[in-house]
Amino acid sequence: MGIETVGIVGTGQMGLGIAQLLAQQGIRTVAIKMTGGDVSGKYATVDKSLQKLVDREKLTAEQKEHILEALTITTDLHELRDCDLVIESIVEEMDRKQQLFHELEQITSETCLLASNTSTLGITELASAVQHRERLVGLHFFNPATVMKLVEIIPTLHTPNDTVERLHKWVEAIGKTPVVVKDETGFIVNRLLTPYMVDAIRAYERGLADAAAIDTAMKLGCNHPMGPLELADYIGLDIVYHMATNLYETFKEPRLAPPPLLRTLVIAEQLGRKSGLGFYDYSTRPATPRKL
Ligand code: 3HC
Repeated sequence: MGIETVGIVGTGQMGLGIAQLLAQQGIRTVAIKMTGGDVSGKYATVDKSLQKLVDREKLTAEQKEHILEALTITTDLHELRDCDLVIESIVEEMDRKQQLFHELEQITSETCLLASNTSTLGITELASAVQHRERLVGLHFFNPATVMKLVEIIPTLHTPNDTVERLHKWVEAIGKTPVVVKDETGFIVNRLLTPYMVDAIRAYERGLADAAAIDTAMKLGCNHPMGPLELADYIGLDIVYHMATNLYETFKEPRLAPPPLLRTLVIAEQLGRKSGLGFYDYSTRPATPRKL
């Protein structure tokens, strides 16, 4: 059976990015804004992102209209009833995700696959909240979802092989490259990337170099598109904090624990690019490195 209609729950940076990506692939996509209220701002975000592609002559105005027609953004979870796959991308809290999957199991048909885009939470633990655990897998996209080529597929001990094969083919069909990884905190990318960002924050705390120097060093020394502090700001410092905490709680290695400065920034609600302040100040163009 094909995957023709896909639901995305959560319209933050990742959820909306995945929704846009799927609509760009011609897939009927229903995105749910879980915080209620007006959805026009979400449509405007997608419109603006597509318009950039039109301006760069990567899309025609007609293609842009088709993409927008393929995408529905709503606050009503029941709109997911005809989906073949629903991908959850809400706040990184186990209880809220489990509650959501429990509701999704009631709303969707038994053949609909349920997936989580969690950064580090356990897929098996999420699946323990549903009756048919074989329906729930991890499908982990990367930010910005429209551009990044990788999707991690995380089966659990309950997942049938044919579901993994089906998702593998589907991920390729939407123009991405899948890797299959066991259900362990951080999967592959965040398991390796989080300690790297956390080490960079510690190096900054110790005064090894300023933020711009650390980022420039890794960009030019390793050919990375962004330096680690810039990337942490881009992902969101609250998310980096959660990832480091989850990794530390799982593996108990002191090096994985979130550094004090990261904690302070999160408490101060200086979460990186999305809140305008992080390791950089985004009120200027280009952003200005801060002295913290
Ligand atoms: N659809 C298709 N293509 C698009 C697009 C869209 N909606 N939007 C942009 N693109 C294309 C652009 O046309 C451009 O292609 P071109 O080079 O052929 O013209 C390309 O994507 C890059 O776009 P931009 O020019 O706007 O951006 P930059 O070249 O400045 O790159 C970046 C920006 C892609 C963010 C780059 O800096 C980068 O790769 N940074 C690292 C990002 C990263 O590591 N992400 C992973 C984070 S970890 C994560 O997400 C896990 C989670 O659990 C926390």
